[in-house]
Amino acid sequence: MELINHLKWRYATKKFDPDRGVSPTDLETLKEAIHLSVSSYGLQLYKVLIIEDQAIRKELKRVSWDQDQVTDASHLFVFCNHTRVDPEEIDAFIRLTSQKRKIDLEKLEGYASFMKAKLAEKSMTETRNWLERQPYLALGNLLMACAALKIDACPMEGFEPGAYNKILGLDEQGLNACVVAAVGYRHPEDRSKDLPKVRKPMEALFEEV
Ligand SMILES: Cc1cc2nc3c(=O)[nH]c(=O)nc-3n(C[C@H](O)[C@H](O)[C@H](O)COP(=O)(O)O)c2cc1C
Repeated sequence: MELINHLKWRYATKKFDPDRGVSPTDLETLKEAIHLSVSSYGLQLYKVLIIEDQAIRKELKRVSWDQDQVTDASHLFVFCNHTRVDPEEIDAFIRLTSQKRKIDLEKLEGYASFMKAKLAEKSMTETRNWLERQPYLALGNLLMACAALKIDACPMEGFEPGAYNKILGLDEQGLNACVVAAVGYRHPEDRSKDLPKVRKPMEALFEEV
């Protein structure tokens, strides 16, 4: 199956070719894959920064365990979760739903109240964990879309979120850098591309009940 071949082809790229850039057309496709990602209630409580600027990336590399992918990839995607649930976000989502699906706003009020009540039940830690999980679904779609386009990527958590937040001015926007993806093309000398995949045996991962 083609999908499985794409997944076998991809790997967490360690060394990117700094001279190869992702085309604007492919970049739009990658953005669309993120745009179409699932999210809890459909709220999409995150933002994705796509950074090309080398000066900023040099600064980010210093707080990313000095990983070369940060500066050498074509683009750096920084997934930033909202740091709190703003009720206005829920109202905006409801307005958008009303508009897109041609449903009267009043008919959606119950759903808005339900979401607000459910989210208000969460403790601060639960809310934070929930908000930080959301961008990972979009990250997964990005990695899949990259593989389908034969674009390389490296998902990254090896960075200091606090330092990213400072450098990128995220705190004041109510955002937090939670996961990063370097996107571009593998360097012919990246030895990781030839390594066999390390995965648990299927029977250790699945149980059919
Ligand atoms: C959330 C997340 C964070 C990761 N952080 C890093 C990282 O900081 N640096 C890195 O080189 N690889 C990172 N990886 C890559 C994993 O090590 C890699 O996906 C895993 O070993 C499986 O290998 P494969 O992707 O090559 O199949 C990360 C992967 C994920 C999903």
